[in-house]
Amino acid sequence: EQKKLWGGRFTGATDPLMEKFNESLPFDKRMWREDLMGSQAYAKALAKTGIITDDEAQQIVEGLKKVEQEWESGTFKIVSGDEDIHTANERRLTEHIGSVGGKLHTGRSRNDQVATDTRLWLYGALQDTRGYLADLIKAAISRAEEDVDVIMPGFTHLQPAQAVRWSHWLLGHAAAWQRDDMRLRDLMPRVATLPLGSGALAGNPFGVDRQFIAKELGFIGGVCPNSMDAVSDRDYVLDTLYFVAVHMTHLSRWAEDLIIYSSGLFKFVQCSDAYATGSSLMPQKKNPDALELIRGKAGRAQGNLAGLLAVMKGAPTTYNKDFQEAWQLMFDSVDTANDCIRIATGVLSTIRINPKKMLAGLSPDMLATDLAEYLVRKGVPFRETHHISGAAVKLAEDRDVTLFDLTVEDLKGIHPQFEDDVLQVWDYNRSAEMRDTEGGASKRSVLEQAEKLKKYLDSE
Ligand code: ARG
Repeated sequence: EQKKLWGGRFTGATDPLMEKFNESLPFDKRMWREDLMGSQAYAKALAKTGIITDDEAQQIVEGLKKVEQEWESGTFKIVSGDEDIHTANERRLTEHIGSVGGKLHTGRSRNDQVATDTRLWLYGALQDTRGYLADLIKAAISRAEEDVDVIMPGFTHLQPAQAVRWSHWLLGHAAAWQRDDMRLRDLMPRVATLPLGSGALAGNPFGVDRQFIAKELGFIGGVCPNSMDAVSDRDYVLDTLYFVAVHMTHLSRWAEDLIIYSSGLFKFVQCSDAYATGSSLMPQKKNPDALELIRGKAGRAQGNLAGLLAVMKGAPTTYNKDFQEAWQLMFDSVDTANDCIRIATGVLSTIRINPKKMLAGLSPDMLATDLAEYLVRKGVPFRETHHISGAAVKLAEDRDVTLFDLTVEDLKGIHPQFEDDVLQVWDYNRSAEMRDTEGGASKRSVLEQAEKLKKYLDSE
């Protein structure tokens, strides 16, 4: 039985169930590298103060490198009593270099250690996320440019609304993803802020140079300003869970659109075989599983955020063991985001669109607004033209025909300012082209949106 790090004052044995209940190694061993990096930097900082010698620091660093090789090669052996990754690495270090290993933890607590390790891990993982997110946005841009001429029905309330472009729809989602990227960019320095040197709560009594440690570890946000807050704060995890929950919500809505568009009643798009599966019963089925999984996982990501908020809200200041519950949520949300973004990129790059079906999804009444706008251009107040156009819709409905079937004479009967050129209104492409303001559905505007997005990505 391994001696406990904190065993000094304890005489009774730990209930075996408590042992399991308390341990975090099964999930926090993922951070073995970050734990070892943090320890190396800390050993160097200790030597700088003179509380350990340069030679001792050297031995510790060498020993930590041996432990690193064991994790790397998969030969690290977990033994009973390895409560968490910090305990396990220090135990193994001491086996390698003897009692000098016991000097590493001088002035340090697992409270400042765990916050440092998780921030370091998260900072690395979120850099991957940013890369994946950029790839997703690039995929949206290139598909939008490729098929910029494809006109598609746009919906509000899921009811056919107005003619837009497939590319306009795509870049609409990319705009949300860009905001997600900005959120991510903003939170990175708050993640990469150094708690180490805060001790258990009161600070470090040996004068370690925290700025030095921050530089060694690449903490771009500097050092946490208050040691009590440093061990108390899990905002960097909450911020991340919020980012993931929002981004997954965006991906879920994008997925939901595509699930609808790929349904047999729409057939606007078809998922490639790489991201769909069949039915074990119905031979004709091709189901958009990738998209459904994204939609489902978004729910779990939201739960993770709600879960950690609930864990944190009653915790007294500084460290409490409740906080250990954060890591599984953190790993799960980050893994989920990183997987979903890459899957979404795959789906998006390979999805086939059916412009004919999109066109067939458009209906003449989706130009009723354009009919009203025709009269607006002749000086009739919009509130009136809305009613006039509504009367045209009603007339067509009563006759069981479409707006296209009304003659110019029919329209003139409704309002005298309709003239022969009103027939130009019955053109979906024209309708999209009319919306040429920044952000609108015109080809020029959509291509401009793509350009701006490219500029954003290049500048990041
Ligand atoms: N495994 C613990 C956690 O993840 C490490 C910190 C333990 N600190 C303590 N004082 N018990 O939170």
